[in-house]
Amino acid sequence: MAQPQVGPGTSRRAFLRSVGVAGGAGAMFATMGALGLAPTAAYVAEKEASFQAPRRSDFTLQGGGGKPARVVVVGGGIAGLTSAYELGKAGYDCTVLEARDRVGGRNLTIRGGDRLTDINGVSQTAHFSKGQYMNAGPGRLAQWMVTLDYCRELGVPIEVFTNTNASALIYNPGKGMTKPVQYRTAKADVYGYVSELLSKATNAGALDGELTADDKERLLTFLKSYGSLGADYKYTGTEHRGFAVDPGAAGTPGEELGGVPSLSEVFASNVGRYFSFEFGYDQAMLMVQPVGGMDQIPKAFARAIGHEKIRTGAAVTDIKNTTDGVEVTYTQDGRTRVVEADYCIATLAPHILAKTPHNLGTEVQTALLAVKPSNASKIGLEYKSRWWEKDFKTFGGITETDLDLDHIWYPSYGHLGDRGLIIGYYNTGARSDVYSALTPAERLERAVAQGVMIHGDKYRTELAASFSHQWKLAPYLEGAWHSMPGGPDAPAYAPLNTAQGNVYFAGDYLSYLDAWQHGAITSARKIVTELHARVLAS
Ligand code: FAD
Ligand code: ALA
Repeated sequence: MAQPQVGPGTSRRAFLRSVGVAGGAGAMFATMGALGLAPTAAYVAEKEASFQAPRRSDFTLQGGGGKPARVVVVGGGIAGLTSAYELGKAGYDCTVLEARDRVGGRNLTIRGGDRLTDINGVSQTAHFSKGQYMNAGPGRLAQWMVTLDYCRELGVPIEVFTNTNASALIYNPGKGMTKPVQYRTAKADVYGYVSELLSKATNAGALDGELTADDKERLLTFLKSYGSLGADYKYTGTEHRGFAVDPGAAGTPGEELGGVPSLSEVFASNVGRYFSFEFGYDQAMLMVQPVGGMDQIPKAFARAIGHEKIRTGAAVTDIKNTTDGVEVTYTQDGRTRVVEADYCIATLAPHILAKTPHNLGTEVQTALLAVKPSNASKIGLEYKSRWWEKDFKTFGGITETDLDLDHIWYPSYGHLGDRGLIIGYYNTGARSDVYSALTPAERLERAVAQGVMIHGDKYRTELAASFSHQWKLAPYLEGAWHSMPGGPDAPAYAPLNTAQGNVYFAGDYLSYLDAWQHGAITSARKIVTELHARVLAS
């Protein structure tokens, strides 16, 4: 490979970048040393933005200065697993301590036979059939998320997750709706009336100050098609609303859905409040999911890291900075043990870490306590038949309601099979708290009673098994995600964005994508980059 040259017109920064690209972090640090430069914050920031995994050759290229360190990773969630996996590529000796009986943390898939006990001592066993599963935590991935790079790298196959579906329903009884309406119908009516109003304003000259004659013409053409307006720019319904009798062979043109509600009724029903969801960069269709359950991701990480490096059922009880490293105490099978290492990466949720003894100082403790956990919950309902596909012609997607079940998710796997599993509630905040206060049997009854209002009796009569998961009550997690006013770079959290002695912090909460594995991964990569730079420079 041609050696990069420093010549006229080549800035030191550009030169270093070319060395980094060609030779990796080790060559970069060796060159920086030769040029008399210390690793700069700008360099680390640049590496974090375009992540480059540490490599074994980084050490040899540096000329023998640093060597892979011992790292104890506290927490075997996605941030912890990413850290151990990436550092492992460069030969770091990582030990992952995970308190629960499996890796994954909030990435949790429930299958038949799983038995979980909540922090109140209430146990549930899942009796789902073989092949049926419930993603109790993460269920979907946006196409741009770095999580998918790991699916590729670790060989986790993916399939489409249907995030919005024109056939799914909207039901807001709190706004006077007496029966559910399909998304396609609700959208046609909202778009139709909004288009009619905007056309009216345009034709009446109300927008003359904003629009040229050509603009007006183009806007009216757009509105006519977008809202399916008539020649007089009136909305009176459209086949976009759906059909009462589907079109078929010659002689059977079908029958369009009738009963177009008035403009006033449409806006009163508040159906339009759900439409902007799919504009979200994080939520837009098309989304994906791992085939066979979201926990295929942590399972693949664990295989790649090496099971011998991961200790489950290992609850950390103390994290200590020492003069030249760290001491992490944990209990496993009733015995107390200590891991000594050069560095620790603490990936526990902040409110959990705040409860764990440590000597990281009051500033860290204050910052940890400034992050508040938020709640969410889901119930999995397995059915003997896929009546939503057969009777409601709905293959995946999400029904929205102002009932406190919030969302019903239809499965994006196993289409046309015999059985299927619906997420019967996925709710957050106070609505989640309502269900957390109930027994599992009461949660099931509440969710099913509401589901019957939307889907009718089969919602009850076809039910085969259920499992409810309240994240607030999950041991070692006690929350779904976080409330962090000001975002992760706010001064209140600054002590967590810097190594405290030999202890680093990572987790989705220290990212701009809290509540996404992408956030946990990018946060872990940031720490991996910083730690590796420090070791190479030592
Ligand atoms: P965690 O998963 O919380 O990992 C922390 C780990 O530390 C846990 O394994 C915990 O058991 C362990 N631990 C705690 N205390 C101790 C101790 N004392 N000793 C040892 N170990 C300990 N993400 C997506 O990408 N897509 C989605 O669709 C999505 N939906 C979600 C829906 C729900 C309901 C929830 C709850 C989350 C969702 N997420 C989603 C977010 C995703 O699950 C998280 O962003 C990610 O899993 C967080 O990983 P983490 O490693 O930062 O934290
Ligand atoms: N990221 C979480 C979800 O999509 C909140 O459900």
